[in-house]
Amino acid sequence: MGSRLLWDNGTNCSNLMPLSSDFAEKERSICIFGTGDFGRSLGFKLLQCGFSVIYGSRNPTLPFAATKGVKRLSHTEAAEKSSVILLAVHRDHYSFLTKITDVLEGKILVDVSNNLKINQYSESNAEYLAQTVPGAKVVKAFNTVSAWALQTGTLDASRQVFVCSDDREAKGTVIDIVCAMGLSPQDQGITGGR
Ligand SMILES: NC(=O)c1ccc[n+]([C@@H]2O[C@H](COP(=O)([O-])OP(=O)(O)OC[C@H]3O[C@@H](n4cnc5c(N)ncnc54)[C@H](OP(=O)(O)O)[C@@H]3O)[C@@H](O)[C@H]2O)c1
Repeated sequence: MGSRLLWDNGTNCSNLMPLSSDFAEKERSICIFGTGDFGRSLGFKLLQCGFSVIYGSRNPTLPFAATKGVKRLSHTEAAEKSSVILLAVHRDHYSFLTKITDVLEGKILVDVSNNLKINQYSESNAEYLAQTVPGAKVVKAFNTVSAWALQTGTLDASRQVFVCSDDREAKGTVIDIVCAMGLSPQDQGITGGR
């Protein structure tokens, strides 16, 4: 998306902050890997819905937008603070996860990715993610929602969030988050059921 997003100009989000200052300790804290368009849009929406947001980034020391209380940490530090990680990174870059598989063990790892072409790879991105981080509980969700819709609230056309996973409990957790964001989860079964 080439358009200017809200966190770039700071106009509509500078008054948002986590509801709790010690957010890292709270159950409703969500970790997002990637501070690009979609990561920031998901974070914006989650903050609006009362969640705390912790970013994992390659550049944790860079200053980060106007939103108070939102931290940008290393991937490892951020992952340690939440049981749910939204992976707002393109599939081509998933290999960095192999260096931190120990901290991702048992975590819910949400694959939000889309590819440029249909059948670009032999396996789905969620299946590839599960192979890359075998100890994580992989859930596919949010890929049909746009960054723009999350930020502007014009979600009528894309309110549905298709969710699938081989892990029933992890899928239930993500469905709860989708509901709390005011979106409509659609259970699409297991990850391999393409
Ligand atoms: N944009 C949308 O509307 C939209 C909608 C649905 C799904 N998605 C999916 O969301 C994902 C992110 O899309 P986006 O539009 O946010 O892309 P983007 O703006 O390019 O952001 C991707 C982020 O990934 C991180 N990254 C880049 N190279 C990396 C590397 N080599 N290793 C680890 N992390 C790296 C960077 O964050 P740091 O600099 O913080 O590390 C970067 O900001 C994609 O899988 C896309 O298919 C996007």
